Amino acid sequence: MVLFGGRSGEHAISCATAGGVLRALDPQRYDVLAVGITPTGRWVLADPDPERWAITEGRLPQVEDTASHVLLPQAVDDRDVQVLEPGELPRALGNVDVVFPLLHGPFGEDGTLQGMLELADVRYVGAGVLASAVGMDKHMMKLVLAGHGLPVGPFVVLAPGEFDRDPAAATAKVESLGLPLFVKPARAGSSLGISRVEDLADLPAAIQAAAQHDPKIVVEAGIVGREIECGVLGGHDGDRARASLPGEIIVTDARHDFYDFEAKYLDEAGVELVCPADLPDDVVAKVQDVAVRSFEAVGCEGLARVDVFVTPDGEVVVNEINTMPGFTPFSMYPRMWQASGLEYPELVDELVRLALHRPTGLR
Ligand SMILES: Nc1ncnc2c1ncn2[C@@H]1O[C@H](COP(=O)(O)OP(=O)(O)O)[C@@H](O)[C@H]1O
Ligand SMILES: [Mg+2]
Repeated sequence: MVLFGGRSGEHAISCATAGGVLRALDPQRYDVLAVGITPTGRWVLADPDPERWAITEGRLPQVEDTASHVLLPQAVDDRDVQVLEPGELPRALGNVDVVFPLLHGPFGEDGTLQGMLELADVRYVGAGVLASAVGMDKHMMKLVLAGHGLPVGPFVVLAPGEFDRDPAAATAKVESLGLPLFVKPARAGSSLGISRVEDLADLPAAIQAAAQHDPKIVVEAGIVGREIECGVLGGHDGDRARASLPGEIIVTDARHDFYDFEAKYLDEAGVELVCPADLPDDVVAKVQDVAVRSFEAVGCEGLARVDVFVTPDGEVVVNEINTMPGFTPFSMYPRMWQASGLEYPELVDELVRLALHRPTGLR
């Protein structure tokens, strides 16, 4: 089951990713069931045609309610996925071997969906409940990484309502971070709700923008460094996870003062994804080591993309870990694996294989 769309602000990106995966799945090997989740959270049978889900000329795809509603198996001893159609008896679609949840953001990448799949005792690609939740929450992610001795930058957290209760105290709290600041919703993605703040006078507006995505806010010191990303794939049979060659994000168009939503998805000309990144061997090794240790610290499974800054003196600082990174054939994660010798369809196969071989339940 290729599962995509969902309730988060990254709905359309998820659809685009699904298009890439649907195209890559070999029909000789897989019976593919495309299931979309509408923006209101309804699960529907979806068009398996990859073209339907592409982002073309800035148009963002969306899952519509098809009135063919999909239900997961209801118990451990009942393996059937069911379809409910108006005026029809429920129809069993049979056993789903593995779900490929191509969802980004809250209600998909954050452990909630993973919890639902655990309850249904269905195997799925990628991180489990806890790792998904930790990876989604930039506050918890930093605590877990720092707790494992991994390098994260200086930050403060503003609890829900904290800024509004006492703006002066909250401002004093972030002041020590210096300028510029990055103000972020704790649990979002695709740069949604993120602002770069160069003057504290702009802090209230930045907090308001972030709070539209999440009442919990993370404020970070701006890090000067190159934006380097590294792909991680889970290991087989107790082996350690594997790191790809790193890639680099270079924002070339000065209209974007960082790697924002437009630069990510709508202005491909304004950004260069350099893959593999042009880095000295020792820095590559350091990035890969930090990436694999971050994957392990968070308890990821299957895949993750670890994003770091490499400072001018060669230090590596983790920015974030994404448990379901952008996954269209043009996205950095598949491109880094391609540069490392694994083509997109093989990568998709490998992820499905990893998911099929892992037990359900506690593991
Ligand atoms: N502390 C920081 N210092 C410098 N740039 C940052 C910092 N945090 C974020 N950025 C910029 O903002 C972008 C988005 O931030 P990120 O934390 O990766 O959010 P998302 O989870 O939405 O991708 C980064 O790719 C980078 O360009
Ligand atoms: Mg990011």
